[in-house]
Amino acid sequence: MNYLLLVNRDNGLGRGYIPENLVKVKIKTGGGKKIYLEKQTYKQIKKLIKDINKKFKTEIVIDSGYRPYLYQENLLKDLIKEKGKEAYKSLARPGYSEHQSGLAVDIGFYNKGVYDAKYNVSDYLEEFKWLEENAYKYGFIIRYPKGKEEVTGYIYEPWHLRYVGKKAEFLTKHNLTLEEYYDMFVL
Ligand code: DAL
Ligand code: ZN
Repeated sequence: MNYLLLVNRDNGLGRGYIPENLVKVKIKTGGGKKIYLEKQTYKQIKKLIKDINKKFKTEIVIDSGYRPYLYQENLLKDLIKEKGKEAYKSLARPGYSEHQSGLAVDIGFYNKGVYDAKYNVSDYLEEFKWLEENAYKYGFIIRYPKGKEEVTGYIYEPWHLRYVGKKAEFLTKHNLTLEEYYDMFVL
């Protein structure tokens, strides 16, 4: 598995792409959803979630992982009904979502036992700050950071973690998105 796989508006996976090492998530998920992730991604997000929940006494869970082409298509259709063209700023077209790679994880929050699916980012600033500073230790980057909207093509999404493996430390310390990394270091 190429953990540095670049998936964005210009680099799609295609309709038929299904990652090889998908495993079923066995820890708690948002609303009890059935979720699959790439094997190593799952192993590492489990550790991260355990540690962040211990630190903040929160109940952070996995809200979204591998999303098949058709699933992404339906998500986007629903959001377009709700928001019109704005939807494209926060959801990728089918075939162009890194959720289809199995390497992306969205996190959600249980608040006093109730699943807070449409949470406000500002309610969990401490947790998101910790993620910005520590996610790399588990091999993750914040894929759509604040201030890089023009580079990534998407709004700030502090909940969307992307597994990249060992390069996470380098990317985080140099404040680089995957796009910038590819521009600078990959020919
Ligand atoms: N929210 C991200 C961009 C996606 O749909 O893959
Ligand atoms: Zn996401």
